[in-house]
Amino acid sequence: MDKIVHIKTFGCQMNERDSEIMGQLLGRSGYVRGDEPETADLILVNTCSIRDKAEQKVYSLLGQLRDLKAKKNNIRIGVCGCVAQQEGRKIIERMPHVDLVVGTQQLYQLPVLLDRLESGELSRAVALDLNPVFAIPPFQHLLREENLQKNEKKHTPVQRYVNIMQGCNNFCSYCVVPYTRGREISRPLADILEEVRLLAAQGVREITLLGQNVNSYGKTNAVAPQVTSFPDLLRAVAEIEGLKRLRFTTSHPKDLDLTLMRCFAELEVLCPHFHLPVQSGSSAVLARMNRGYTAEAYLDKVEQLRGIRPDIALATDFIVGFPGETEEEFVETLQLLESVRFHSSFSFKYSDRPQARATAFPDKIAEEVKGERLSRLQSLQNEISLQWNTNLMHKEVEVLVEQVQTQAGRGRSSANQVVYFHLQADQALPVVGDLVRVQIEHAGPHSLRGAMLS
Ligand code: SAH
Ligand code: SF4
Ligand code: F3S
Repeated sequence: MDKIVHIKTFGCQMNERDSEIMGQLLGRSGYVRGDEPETADLILVNTCSIRDKAEQKVYSLLGQLRDLKAKKNNIRIGVCGCVAQQEGRKIIERMPHVDLVVGTQQLYQLPVLLDRLESGELSRAVALDLNPVFAIPPFQHLLREENLQKNEKKHTPVQRYVNIMQGCNNFCSYCVVPYTRGREISRPLADILEEVRLLAAQGVREITLLGQNVNSYGKTNAVAPQVTSFPDLLRAVAEIEGLKRLRFTTSHPKDLDLTLMRCFAELEVLCPHFHLPVQSGSSAVLARMNRGYTAEAYLDKVEQLRGIRPDIALATDFIVGFPGETEEEFVETLQLLESVRFHSSFSFKYSDRPQARATAFPDKIAEEVKGERLSRLQSLQNEISLQWNTNLMHKEVEVLVEQVQTQAGRGRSSANQVVYFHLQADQALPVVGDLVRVQIEHAGPHSLRGAMLS
């Protein structure tokens, strides 16, 4: 009988993709993925360390799993992802019921480590190497026809993530990622293309290329000559048959150049949607963050980009309450938001992270002040997002269908807005993966609603 693995995922798209990879790897060792921790033989907690006392939250979740293990002692518990990388052996020492700790670049070891636990060769397993010259293992083989039978997903989702690089060399002063994911490494072009081709052949219609800093694909620690520039990579992926939409995340503003901007005008499958995290509208704060650009330089790039692709929907990330952020500096962030008018944004209260330089910075901002700034920023963003969406009233939007019910469905626009649609009399129901046109009848700040057009 198949063994069951329950994988609990926190954090970014990279972690979601890593969870998929772990599921696929374990599929080859006779595991199927299950939704219930109670019925699982193996529970993997794929952790994120980006903010907010992440490690404490992981320890408290692991505490709950201790009780489950006490009731059912043949269950194995593993911790992976960024908190596993950061805390390492401490997890094993503090949590005697944890069997396995696997770092962010050691996923491929999972089946072997489980075998060694099973055979009794190891009583507990830890794999944490972050090797700076280590090439990304070619996980695309897991998607080949012959390896698919036991995989966790029998139905093909419309949208999938594809890693193009690992790690980050930017060392923004607030950020834990360079420590948890290691140095920047680009994945060979041929591996990426094979993965996208396999996915497209299985019916995947939208691909999002993933990296912490995709603009520097191929520039650092490249496994030359197997890599190219990021715009060339985009061009190669855009040609793959069956692909209807292409996106990428995340871009660093300092590395955004004209060649990449032009891709938004040249490549039809590349969605006019761009996530370009600004973090702050104050050049002084940006300097303390070690972001490598000023607010003015960011605004210039936005103007250039809009000159090339006027309908581009810009999204961003903001951090409020960075150490030493004055009211005036925060107001500069509000002003930048006003002037760029982002389609959407994610905004966070600054939090100290292990090893990040800003943790040692003076003048930490009080929680209440951070909370108050966050809500001012978010209410301005909501107004702007609503305005963007209201402008779409009575207009037609192209939607990639993700879900269908009897007389209705849901999908996303090329600008990544969630769109709910209903069918009109005698229209045939679309299938998942179709592109349909929807006339917008209702606009909210986070979604749109409308009627499907024939
Ligand atoms: N590589 C991407 C994003 C990485 S993390 C980039 O360079 O933009 C995602 C977001 O989390 C960041 O954009 C930032 O806004 C937020 N973040 C990162 N560290 C943080 C911290 N210590 N406190 C609060 N927010 C943080
Ligand atoms: Fe973190 Fe900066 Fe790297 Fe993004 S670019 S992952 S924010 S260090
Ligand atoms: Fe979190 Fe690690 Fe991603 S810290 S945001 S899971 S890279």
